[in-house]
Amino acid sequence: MEEKKKEWNGFEPKIVGFCCNWCSYAAADLAGISRLKYPPNIRIIRVPCTGKVDPLYILKAFELGADGVFIAGCMEGECHYLTGNLYARDRVERLKRDLEKVGLGGRLEMFFMSAAMGKEFAAATTDLTERIMKMGPSPLKGK
Ligand code: FES
Repeated sequence: MEEKKKEWNGFEPKIVGFCCNWCSYAAADLAGISRLKYPPNIRIIRVPCTGKVDPLYILKAFELGADGVFIAGCMEGECHYLTGNLYARDRVERLKRDLEKVGLGGRLEMFFMSAAMGKEFAAATTDLTERIMKMGPSPLKGK
């Protein structure tokens, strides 16, 4: 990660992650407890379910300077509120198309994981961070 920072002139992307309390938040915790490395520039917002994440929250994160945003919820079929993650998946897909049109394509992602997937959480957030680093700062920065 240090080499990447140098490669991108010290650019450290701000990435906001909305994590479901029941699964991905626990996966992030597990990654930390297991001392798995994942980017320190991730800011996690714990939500009761990804179905609770209004698209306006995502847009607000971009407006406030996030270079990337992710939503991480329970595995499909395992949402504690039955279909919250499926609603979230559909919203994210629609929003991705809209973000593409305004120059923010590729900066939003959704992950599905269980509480036992600390390793996958670390890998997914590292991949997303590297992708955002290649894209550079959000075009909304400084506006
Ligand atoms: Fe985890 Fe719904 S409870 S996504």
